[in-house]
Amino acid sequence: MVGLLVPHAVLVGLGLLSLLVVAGAQLVSPQLIRFVIDEGLVAGNGAQLATPLLLLVLAAALAGVFGYIQGYLAERVSQDVAFDLRNRLFARIESLSFSYHDRAQTGQLMTRLTSDVEQVRAFLGQGVLQLLSAAVLLVGSLVILFLENWRLALVTVLTVPSMAVVLGRFVRRVRPLFGEVQARLGTLNTVLQENLVGVRVVQAFAREPYEAQRYERTNALLLSANVKTVRGLAASFPLIWFISNLGIAAVVWIGGLEIIGGDLSYGQLAAFMRYLSLLMMPLMMLGMITGQLARAVVSADRIFEILDATSDIRDAADAIVLPPVVGRVAFEGVSFRYAGAERDTLSDVSFVAEPGQTVAIMGQTGSGKSSIINLIPRFYDPVAGRVTIDGHDVRQVTLESLRRQIGIVLQDTTLMSGTLRDNIAYGRPDASDADIEAAARAAQAHDFIAAFPQGYQTLVGERGVGLSGGQRQRIAIARALLLDPRILILDDSTSAVDAETEYQLQQALDALMRGRTAFVIAQRISTVRDADLILLIDEGRIVARGTHDELLRDSALYGEILDSQFGRAEVTP
Ligand SMILES: Nc1ncnc2c1ncn2[C@@H]1O[C@H](COP(=O)(O)OP(=O)(O)OP(=O)(O)O)[C@@H](O)[C@H]1O
Ligand SMILES: [Mg+2]
Repeated sequence: MVGLLVPHAVLVGLGLLSLLVVAGAQLVSPQLIRFVIDEGLVAGNGAQLATPLLLLVLAAALAGVFGYIQGYLAERVSQDVAFDLRNRLFARIESLSFSYHDRAQTGQLMTRLTSDVEQVRAFLGQGVLQLLSAAVLLVGSLVILFLENWRLALVTVLTVPSMAVVLGRFVRRVRPLFGEVQARLGTLNTVLQENLVGVRVVQAFAREPYEAQRYERTNALLLSANVKTVRGLAASFPLIWFISNLGIAAVVWIGGLEIIGGDLSYGQLAAFMRYLSLLMMPLMMLGMITGQLARAVVSADRIFEILDATSDIRDAADAIVLPPVVGRVAFEGVSFRYAGAERDTLSDVSFVAEPGQTVAIMGQTGSGKSSIINLIPRFYDPVAGRVTIDGHDVRQVTLESLRRQIGIVLQDTTLMSGTLRDNIAYGRPDASDADIEAAARAAQAHDFIAAFPQGYQTLVGERGVGLSGGQRQRIAIARALLLDPRILILDDSTSAVDAETEYQLQQALDALMRGRTAFVIAQRISTVRDADLILLIDEGRIVARGTHDELLRDSALYGEILDSQFGRAEVTP
């Protein structure tokens, strides 16, 4: 955590200097008070009062001004650190692979970016400087106390170990509790996030009461974790307070006897009491800060868990930039399994797509169609075999150069909040209006876009709210086409298009796929019939391959799937 301060070393250094000035001013003022009492009051010498009182005011002013500077710098630095942390976390989360996100809980990730960052920030903003100032005051006042009167100092020091014991027990008890609080907050946010995304499903199934209860239950767990930490906090401070008051009582008692015996002056005792409170203040503060520290350490752990996570999909050290491709895609004995899965999702898949060919992938739901195409842009790595483009293993080229050359329409269309134009231009933000319109026309999206009053400047909500399913898909197709990729992947992409548009869209897609290597997860018979190669997948294996006519002749399963998916009437010409 302290490493986070390094980039802000200058401000931190200035903050530390201010802190030393404040501590110095605080340590010197009891001496002035002693002088006022002993040389002024007790001696009955009014002329001696003015200078030390003036100096006292000066010390107070110095402490005030530099206290302000120190407080401002600390907050400022902590905000900078939080800014850096959020950016680093975001960039890291973006770069983590599909596998990571398959398993990560959105709410936990969001909690780390918000609440956990705030815990660390709060500690760095106040805690660190308070800790240092406590240490300076503690050591400074102890040294002065021993120089002033070692017997009294000894009495004071005796209270310190018992306070340390109380603090130590407190930290041991609350530390795991803080971890629990953050984890439960994460779970609560996961429930919230799921419900925000799925609010339509919840309402469609009239499950609001159930979800409200689920939220309340999770919320209650958070409450009980919070209450437990509060109990730990509340019990410890009064105890420390009590111990410190015992110390003061002992000092007054012994100091009083020494004054009566003539070994100590009134001023010395008064100064001593001031030092004592200077000593107690940091001790009390330490109690609060240790709580804050324990909490920040737990949060920092959670933050660094993400920052230190390495993506399993990243550029190889010797990765080259994939030169512009012709588009020969080959799978060589590829087997693949999702992390945590018990068996292979794909087994020994081999095929070659020559440049310009259209490959249709067919198979029942769950057979592995999407899994195959996910390996081409290297969303996942195979466990055996390799995927090559123009002979380059996709693991040997940079992700950016690979993915820039592949246009992909994923099975779940996600649009970003912004205008329709921005969404189509997502992969090529500098595209000209003419290019964008051409892509939209090709994807049969231009007409409905032009019908909006704002046209291409129409704003869509997050995930494309405000568009129909089919419209969303056509924007996604336009987005892929705008890249003018040599390799095009369409996953179920046109299934949500109504029958009327289907014919036009098919014409457009046929034209678009020409000259590109295209992978289509087939939904329409026309695509299948015209494909250069049809791969029939069953339980992760290629069970038949060939053209439509060949498969119709040779594969019983192919006939069955066509029957079930498209109806026999359409199949036999
Ligand atoms: N992210 C994932 N993590 C773990 N298992 C997965 C994941 N995605 C898919 N699977 C599993 O892998 C298998 C193949 O899934 P895949 O998505 O490739 O099927 P599909 O042929 O595209 O099906 P559909 O036609 O329904 O889209 C399924 O059994 C599925 O349960
Ligand atoms: Mg799929």
